[in-house]
Amino acid sequence: MKRVVFDAGAIATRVQELGADITAAYPDGDLLVLGLLKGSFIFLSDLVRHVNRPLQVDFLVASSYGDAMESSGVVRLLYDPETELEGKHILLVEDIVDSGRTLNRLVELLRERNPRSLEICALLHKHIAHELRHPTRFVGFDAPHEFLVGYGLDHAENFRHLPYVASLQ
Ligand code: PRP
Ligand code: MN
Ligand code: MG
Repeated sequence: MKRVVFDAGAIATRVQELGADITAAYPDGDLLVLGLLKGSFIFLSDLVRHVNRPLQVDFLVASSYGDAMESSGVVRLLYDPETELEGKHILLVEDIVDSGRTLNRLVELLRERNPRSLEICALLHKHIAHELRHPTRFVGFDAPHEFLVGYGLDHAENFRHLPYVASLQ
């Protein structure tokens, strides 16, 4: 059973607002938008089209859920960007902050590369993570404590293509 939590129209409106917020936050441009795959692929592609600044795009691939509905606790980094991060404004784009393990691990890794700044933009945030090492500056929606799919989010690799976010509960 699926219940629509955020429909396509609500997402489009909010993504446009986030794009405007990001545009305002980086007046000098020179931004490197780092999409965390696979989950952020749709969000990132919609978001960057609403950022009216010079920017570059690269990706990281990390995974911790596999086919399960709970984090394995081990965040595997499967692809690391080749772009030089030192001295750049980095915006890490995530689909969802759940337990916070993924972001904690990646923030640690990205900070070691001495970016000029590091901020996070997440479409969804469950606000259940206890020890987030870095604030999420840009948040699309506060998310319910349910397993969500669609608009990039998967369960066992399915449902990513849905144009809305739905709960599997
Ligand atoms: C999901 C999601 C986030 C992360 C959030 O990724 O896309 O990256 O988990 O959960 P956390 O805050 O508990 O770490 P997943 O490991 O499922 O890989 P995927 O992006 O390829 O689906
Ligand atoms: Mn992910
Ligand atoms: Mg997943």
